Amino acid sequence: MRPIGVFDSGVGGLTVVKELIRQLPNENIVYFGDTARVPYGIKSKETVIRFSIENILFLLKHDVKFICVACNTVSSFALPEIKHHFRVPIVGVITPGAREAVYATRNKRVGVIGTKGTIKSRAYENEIRQFDPAVKVTAIACPLFVPFVEEGWLGGEVVTSVVRYYLKPLKEAGVDTLILGCTHYPLLKSVIQEVMGKKVTLIDSAKQVAVEVQEILSNEGLLNKKGKARHEFFVSDNPEWFSNLARRFLGRPLRNVKKVTNV
Ligand code: DGL
Repeated sequence: MRPIGVFDSGVGGLTVVKELIRQLPNENIVYFGDTARVPYGIKSKETVIRFSIENILFLLKHDVKFICVACNTVSSFALPEIKHHFRVPIVGVITPGAREAVYATRNKRVGVIGTKGTIKSRAYENEIRQFDPAVKVTAIACPLFVPFVEEGWLGGEVVTSVVRYYLKPLKEAGVDTLILGCTHYPLLKSVIQEVMGKKVTLIDSAKQVAVEVQEILSNEGLLNKKGKARHEFFVSDNPEWFSNLARRFLGRPLRNVKKVTNV
C-alpha cells in the first residue's frame, strides 16, 4: 500500500493529518515536519520553494502516491512552482478552503487570517476571485498566533485581547465567513469564534483539504478501502519537542518520531 506523503514547516500540519486519519482511516501516511527550518511564515518565496522541493524529494524516497502540502505558507507561495517539477499529484490547502468559504458566505464578505507570508502572497484572494469575483476579501496576518499555540496558550485574557486586536478589521468589514488560513489556527477556534460571534462561519482549511484528498484519490482509483493503516513521522530536528506538541495537535502522543539529517 503506497502511502500519502504530507509535509509542513513543523508541527502544524498535524491538524491536517488528524483530518486525513479521520476521513481516510485506511491510508498509510508518511509525514515530514521541517522543524529545523520552521517557521516558513516569515521566509522569502525563493527559500520556501527551495525547502519545499527538498521536502518533496524526501517524501518521494518513501514511494508516496500523492502529496498533501499541509502548510498554508507553502501552498500560497510555492505550490504553482513546485507542481511543475514533479509527476506525483500534489494538493495544497488554499483551493479547498477558498472554495468552501465562497460556498458558505451569504453576504459575500470573507475574512482570511494567516502568516505574514500567506497574507502577502494574496493566494486566498486570487483563488476566491476565481470562484466568485463578487466576493470581497479582507485578509489579516496574525503572526503571534503560531507561538501562542506552540506555547499552549489557547485561551485566557492575554490571548483573547490579542485575538480581538487582530480581528478588529474583520469585524469592521462585516465578514460572515472567516478562513483559518494557517495550520495552527484550528487550535484557537473557540476564542476566535467567541471574538467574531456565533454567526460567523469559521472555515478550517485542514478539514477541507482532507475532503479534497479523498475525492482525488477516489477519482484516480488510488483510494485504500481496507487494511490497517501505518503512520510514520519524520522531522529535521527536535523529535522530542515535536512528540510533545503532537498530543495537542493530534489528540494523542506520538512515539517513534524519527529525525532525518539529510533532507
Ligand atoms: N504551517 C505554517 C502555515 O500553515 C505556519 C507555521 C510557519 O510559519 O511555518 O502557514
